[in-house]
Amino acid sequence: MPDEIIVRPYTSPDEDAVVALWERTFPDDPPWNEPRAMIRRKLRVQPELFLVAKAEGDRLVGTVLAGFDGVRGWIHHLAVDDRERRAGVGTKLMRAAEEGLRSIGCPKVNLQVRATNAEVIAFYRALGYVLEDRAALGLRLGIEI
Ligand SMILES: CC(C)(COP(=O)(O)OP(=O)(O)OC[C@H]1O[C@@H](n2cnc3c(N)ncnc32)[C@H](O)[C@@H]1OP(=O)(O)O)[C@@H](O)C(=O)NCCC(=O)NCCS
Repeated sequence: MPDEIIVRPYTSPDEDAVVALWERTFPDDPPWNEPRAMIRRKLRVQPELFLVAKAEGDRLVGTVLAGFDGVRGWIHHLAVDDRERRAGVGTKLMRAAEEGLRSIGCPKVNLQVRATNAEVIAFYRALGYVLEDRAALGLRLGIEI
């Protein structure tokens, strides 16, 4: 893992860089994942589990959002700048998110990945995650974005 990468909770000066990273990394995100609205919502719930990875010069190179609902932990928006991949940044972010969840008593982490995203599935498997035989269901609750 790269020693020069620091993983720490998000702070408001990170906003523009996070938005830029998410727009590059998740260009097909649905409207309810609008970056600034997502940031605002996450800051209202377990903001300490919104982590960023910083390289030398305070350059933002990655993000992860984690949350514990009292039963399971969830991971969202793990993203590493495409110029910085395969150098351990994603692993470092995930291990920090897992540690944050563990520290508040979370026994298990879940996450969702598009079934077609073989590379990201390979990444999570490399970290010890296993594919589980579940169907993913969702319901929009119709709140203002
Ligand atoms: C998935 C992602 C976060 C991985 O970040 P990363 O910093 O490159 O990951 P790491 O360097 O820590 O990789 C650790 C291991 O995972 C595996 N891995 C990582 N990327 C991989 C890929 N594209 N294909 C196959 N295996 C991969 C490898 O085993 C790797 O170890 P190695 O480089 O020594 O072979 C990054 O590719 C990304 O941001 N992808 C786009 C965003 C995304 O889809 N996020 C997930 C949404 S839930």
